[in-house]
Amino acid sequence: MPKKVTLIATAAMGLESIVGNEVKALGYENVTIENGRVIFEADVSAIPRANLWLRTADRVKLLVGRFKATTFDELFERTKELPWEAFIEEDGEFPVVGKSVKSKLYSVPDCQSIVKKAIVEKLKVKHGITTWLKETGSFYRVEVALHKDEALLTIDTSGSGLHKRGYRVGQGEAPLKETLAAALVQITNWTPDQPFVDPFCGSGTIAIEAALIGQNIAPGFNREFASEEWGFIPPKVWDDAFQEAEDAANYDQPLQIIGSDLDPTLIEIAQKNAMEAGLGDLITWKQMQMSDFKPKQENGYLVSNPPYGERMGEREEVEQMYHDLGTIMRDHPSWSVYILTSHEGFEKLYGKPATKKRKLFNGFIKTDYYQYFGRRPKSISKNGKGFGF
Ligand SMILES: C[S@@+](CC[C@H](N)C(=O)[O-])C[C@H]1O[C@@H](n2cnc3c(N)ncnc32)[C@H](O)[C@@H]1O
Repeated sequence: MPKKVTLIATAAMGLESIVGNEVKALGYENVTIENGRVIFEADVSAIPRANLWLRTADRVKLLVGRFKATTFDELFERTKELPWEAFIEEDGEFPVVGKSVKSKLYSVPDCQSIVKKAIVEKLKVKHGITTWLKETGSFYRVEVALHKDEALLTIDTSGSGLHKRGYRVGQGEAPLKETLAAALVQITNWTPDQPFVDPFCGSGTIAIEAALIGQNIAPGFNREFASEEWGFIPPKVWDDAFQEAEDAANYDQPLQIIGSDLDPTLIEIAQKNAMEAGLGDLITWKQMQMSDFKPKQENGYLVSNPPYGERMGEREEVEQMYHDLGTIMRDHPSWSVYILTSHEGFEKLYGKPATKKRKLFNGFIKTDYYQYFGRRPKSISKNGKGFGF
């Protein structure tokens, strides 16, 4: 078993620092933040732990090597020098995928087959195999990513992307990625003892992610990872990581989370998703017009991803909704409001400039995350009684 590994937690544009904070919170040091990724060194147990716990990263990749390569010869020789045998077993299946940006080696299929050939040669020598490699064993997805002539060789440890928590049994038209929803919650200062509402909840992603955060439930608890089958990670390391997650969960933490939406079908879906996430009836779901939302408590958090008004005929209605939301929330200055939208006129329609804004991508859509910090009275009641609409 290798003593130390270098891992890359990939991150959507704009979320790198949040992923970095999560990595640090897991106890890892030497964390380097780059565009689209967070690199850190750790022992092998970080592979299960990072996969289980990182809420906002897209994937966790194992970094095998990083070097300059401007010719196929260089790519082949440098790839062959890397210690593939420490990770890939003699019967391991290892397809090679690739990408190339602003690099002399621009033919991705050629780069992939050269890397494949170099790994095959290395494994045959190291594992003492004279015929062909069977590739009938565990799955290792190797990636060669070239950027400005630098090759990054990784093996994906996650399998399906980390946004696939395993709870989404249904979804609406424009569901948020679970990783982005978790980031939206983490950007706020919400603590689990405070009211939390998403009045445009759709399939419930934001509310579900808030509940998982609120009870400190590892987001990967309900799913499997490609590296669970890998020979160099002893099964005990996985068992310990799952046990740690089980011990850390605080199922007794009461929560006051409400998700509401105009569409009754989506409310049903949200309810099913929350059940699947193991949250039972911890979240209150309600079919309701946003304009009927009336906070009954102080110091709550409204975190939402409303319609953006990008579709034909939708714009006016959406603009009216933003205006209505601003009018409602004006009477509740202790509430903090966080809205993700691509509508550039949001602040004007809402009727107030945001305390803070952050550029984020929702898939390919450029959005802003408008943040209005609630006014904090001197004594904050943390009593959850009477919460509701
Ligand atoms: C962008 S989607 C939210 C998606 C959600 N974040 C998810 O992950 O599934 C916006 C939601 O707002 C709801 N909606 C539209 N107009 C509404 C209104 N006036 N009141 C309440 N909900 C409304 C839609 O039904 C839709 O589910």
